Amino acid sequence: ASTLGASAAQSGRYFGAAIAAGKLGDSTYTGILTREFNAVTPENEMKWDATEPSQGRFTYTNGDRILNQGLSNGSKVRGHALLWHAQQPSWAQSLSGSALRSAAINHVTQVATHYKGKIYAWDVVNEAFADGGGGGRRDSNLQRTGNDWIEAAFRAAHTADPNAKLCYNDYNTDGVNAKSTGVYTMVRDFKSRGVPIDCVGFQSHLGTGIPGDYQANLQRFADLGVDVQITELDVAQGGNQASIYSSVTRACMAVTRCTGITVWGIRDSDSWRTGENPLLFDNSGNKKAAYTSVLNAL
Ligand code: XIL
Repeated sequence: ASTLGASAAQSGRYFGAAIAAGKLGDSTYTGILTREFNAVTPENEMKWDATEPSQGRFTYTNGDRILNQGLSNGSKVRGHALLWHAQQPSWAQSLSGSALRSAAINHVTQVATHYKGKIYAWDVVNEAFADGGGGGRRDSNLQRTGNDWIEAAFRAAHTADPNAKLCYNDYNTDGVNAKSTGVYTMVRDFKSRGVPIDCVGFQSHLGTGIPGDYQANLQRFADLGVDVQITELDVAQGGNQASIYSSVTRACMAVTRCTGITVWGIRDSDSWRTGENPLLFDNSGNKKAAYTSVLNAL
């Protein structure tokens, strides 16, 4: 097939992009989006600060724009992200203990209920593990409410939207390392105790290299009985950008339970990694070499 989405669909997978509501009026942007992609993720619009700017007052206007853009194009919509230490509204940042725990669980319930039946997969919890060699949790206000905050979030999301796939999502977990093994141990524990988790997202914000055990890492999670997804792919532009994109794509294709790939933006000029040109389309919307290498690997 001649587009990313149609090529991924030939093996039952999706190929998605993170998109921004404020860019949907840009015809170059939406032209590429509707032509190439069959999944979307809101880059910011479904985060806590965007959806509950003051406690108990929910605003879904921009999240709904992303949702409707995706649904009207026949695309899957990945929800991102119900709970995260970053991009919290200031009122949540000032809470702690049981007040924060109940506010967080209420947030999960309300947002997942609003989007019930529409979301393919939710990033229920984002980036809860620490970098470095310890393999433990990241310190955060949410973590300080008790180590069970992650499973409480997954249970609340499952109750609110039983048909959405529920994912744990993180970065620097793209190879076998202490951090990814910490996540692996949590997922294994959740599966053994019946905590509802369906998928693990690997952000894959990559520099000029890719871990040699990238595919093996995806496979070890899949072997636990969860789907795996590449959720925020972007790759620094260096001599090997195209080959790294190709390696990521081939790894997903080689893992039966790797259900799809999402790139974190459309054109280089849309990327959060300013000046790194990490995406598949240049500032004018032209296909880069990395685009062709992905298409050929699907
Ligand atoms: C980024 C967005 O791309 C930026 O627009 C925003 O200013 C900060 O967040 N990991 C994630 C994403 O899970 O939500 C982040 O998105 C990038 C890193």
